[in-house]
Amino acid sequence: MNRAGIVILISGRGSNMQAILEAARAGDFPAEIRAVISNAPEAAGLERARAADVATEVVNHRDYRNRTEFDRALMEKIDARTPDLVALAGFMRILGPEFIDHYAGRLINIHPSLLPKFPGLDTHERALASGAKVHGASVHFVTREVDSGPIIIQAAVPVLAHDTPETLAARVLEEEHRIYPQAIRWFAENRLSIRDGRVLLDGAQRPEQGLVAASR
Ligand code: GAR
Repeated sequence: MNRAGIVILISGRGSNMQAILEAARAGDFPAEIRAVISNAPEAAGLERARAADVATEVVNHRDYRNRTEFDRALMEKIDARTPDLVALAGFMRILGPEFIDHYAGRLINIHPSLLPKFPGLDTHERALASGAKVHGASVHFVTREVDSGPIIIQAAVPVLAHDTPETLAARVLEEEHRIYPQAIRWFAENRLSIRDGRVLLDGAQRPEQGLVAASR
């Protein structure tokens, strides 16, 4: 099998990265992880990647004078691995237009909300404060606007009476670990395309396939 090459970018714990690594370990997964790159040398996910025998790199944003220089250094490290796909997995730096345009159509992100609701930070706190009855996570192609871009797959979870941001985050995270490998599988199987800002699966709009609804 000709597996698609992936580079994963992280900033922290790396549990989504781990879910992707575990999926990739299964024999029939159509993608292989070429490297995990972090902007933060202390990211716990780096250790997890090393433990799984995956190549790791650090491009420390503090070493660069501005975003453009950091983005270019990151692009150089990524491109050295010639990936088909770049997956942001808890990567907490904003990327500039040059970077985003360079990877157009092959850069995806996971965000802990049902986009377009709650872009940005503190999504679980904001979902609770809004009184929303459902919350969730989204995997989407990255475009120039932060936390926007065509949605590949979402998972919805109920908001429960005694939820705190932590309990809600944990319920959402479990779903993140399901939908990110699924999105990558579809990408690697060449089943995704974008038309009019919307993601098609096998050339058609299939919203029901892109939604995972969790039971409590
Ligand atoms: C995840 O919940 C991910 O969705 C979120 O950060 C967490 C990283 O956890 N990403 C964003 O908020 C991006 N805007 P992880 O390091 O354990 O995968």
